[in-house]
Formats: sequence, structure tokens, C-alpha cells
Amino acid sequence: LWTPAQIIEDQVQRVREQVGDRHVLLGLSGGVDSSVVAALLHKAIGTQLTCVFVDNGLLRKAEGDQVMETFAKHMGVKVIRVDAEDLFLGKLKGEKDPEAKRKIIGNTFIDVFDEEASKIDGVEFLAQGTIYPDVIESAASKTGKAHVIKSHHNVGGLPETMKLKLVEPLRELFKDEVRKLGLELGLPYDMVYRHPFPGPGLGVRILGEVKKDYADILRDADAIFIEELRASGWYEKTSQAFAVFLPVKSVGVVGDGRRYEWVIALRAVETIDFMTARWAHLPYELLEKVSNRIINELEGVSRVTYDVSSKPPATIEWE
Ligand code: XMP
Repeated sequence: LWTPAQIIEDQVQRVREQVGDRHVLLGLSGGVDSSVVAALLHKAIGTQLTCVFVDNGLLRKAEGDQVMETFAKHMGVKVIRVDAEDLFLGKLKGEKDPEAKRKIIGNTFIDVFDEEASKIDGVEFLAQGTIYPDVIESAASKTGKAHVIKSHHNVGGLPETMKLKLVEPLRELFKDEVRKLGLELGLPYDMVYRHPFPGPGLGVRILGEVKKDYADILRDADAIFIEELRASGWYEKTSQAFAVFLPVKSVGVVGDGRRYEWVIALRAVETIDFMTARWAHLPYELLEKVSNRIINELEGVSRVTYDVSSKPPATIEWE
């Protein structure tokens, strides 16, 4: 029999034994797994933990501030926030290919993370939010997207020279157990039960070339969609929901004038394992409200569409 409190106690002891009085580095993404590791390690070793949070400019609206608010301000965790928007967008300039974009984002993340890590003296451990399904998955396959996801999220590309030992306190846990640990550790419910967000972020939700204006519009559209999903109780009924930026101009009218603006696609799915998914049958009234708000509130958007493709054959993300 286990309870979240017991697992935490147990892991706190184990981490203390493993780490002693030495220092640990953690890449904090704001996702569930790394957030729970941060909270757990903070409880276990306090100021011996340093988190690095990289803002790549492809995060959701206010995401960076929320991470700092939760960890640095409320919990007193040592978090270094790196504002790397210009660097990421600069490297992505002109690149249209989805896999190439993923690689650029992943590699740039590793560069930024390594640079920050090298500035911190005396770090001997790297903490990772590896959970049990990750362990299984990487044992089963070393190729394909699963591995790309892993290598990005878990900072698999850290240089050999750093020779950091791993701290992986969630290695034996399933996602639902990790969430319960998170709540027990005092993380906000909304953070612990947030929909998954891909490592490359908005980089794969802006089709083709990534530009700052596109990312800004997309962030706003996505925030409106999520706000209305939460308000209507549909956020919990969907497994993942988000807006996608289509770099296509479409005509609209406002008063006497014609507008020629961008298109936003909305995507919401229900799934157990993310391998297959059904598009969510959101109420028309909800879609209508979201669409009206996006078009009325966002200058750059003249049209909203809803994605009614299931997986397979369509993937959940558009790229
Ligand atoms: P697809 O689009 O393959 O997505 O149906 C399945 C799940 O994986 C997420 N996803 C990613 N996560 N890096 C990530 O960390 C990626 O490159 C990536 N691509 C897709 C997607 O959001 C969905 O939850």
C-alpha cells in the first residue's frame, strides 16, 4: 500500500542519501514531470537545487511568468530564467521543415542549457523528470519521434565532459501517480492537471516558418480557446486542446472595410494514450463563442476553423 505522502517521504530520503551535500541541476519546463521533480527536490535538498528555465519564445501566454511565480516566488526554489526568445527565433529564421524546426529547437535548448549549467559551480547531479513509461519507451525504441521527444525533454544531449550523475526520483511512477505527488507537494491543481505541451512548443503549431508576430497572435488565440474550455468545463473532458497558426490570408469584412488576415485552426482531442485520438465533439455554442472572441479581439485573424480529423491518420499536432 502506498500513499503520495509515503512515496514523497521515501524519495526525499533516497535523494538525500544519493546527493549528500552536493548540488543538483534541473531543467524546469513547466510541464508536470519536471515541476514535480522540482518540488520534490526542493523539499529534499532545498538550496542545493538549481533549476534552469529556458524561455524559448515558443511558450504559451504568460507561461514563463507562471513558472517563476509558482516556483521562485511561492516556493522559494532557486530558478534561473533564461530569456532566449531572440536566439531561438533567430535560429529558426527561414526554416519551414517541421523536423528541421524540431531539431533546431532541441539543439538550441541544449546549447542554452549547457551554457547556463557551465556557469554554476560545483554541480554534480542532473535531475530529470523521467517517469516509468519513458523508461519502457526508450528501452523499446531508440529511434523515431518517441526518442526525439525524450532527448529533447530529458536533456539527453548534455556533453560527456559534464559527467553529471542522474537523479530520477519519478522513474518508477506512472503519470497519475506523479500528478498525485504534485498535489501532495503543494503544486497548483491547474499545473498538475494541465494538458501536455510539446517540447518544441508553438514552433510546431505555427505551420512553416516561425515568426514573432505569428507566435504572439497564436498565444492570444490559444489563451482565449483554453479560457473558454475551462469556463465551460470542457478542459477536463478533453485530453489536449490548442490553437494552430495557419500562415494563410483569408478575406473578412469589418464594417465597410475588407480585412485580409490570418487563419487560426482549433484542435481538441480525446485520447487515452495519445497514439490514437478522436476529435472532441465540442458544443457548437462553445466553438461559436471562441471563434467570435478570437476574430473580434485579435486584429490579425479573420477566420477560425475547427479541426475534425482523428488520429490516425491525422496526428494530434499539425506538424
Ligand atoms: P502527434 O502529433 O504525434 O502527437 O499525434 C502525440 C503527442 O505527442 C506530442 N508531441 C510532441 N511532444 N516533442 C514533444 O515533446 C515533439 O516534438 C512532439 N510532437 C508531438 C503531442 O503534443 C501529443 O501530445
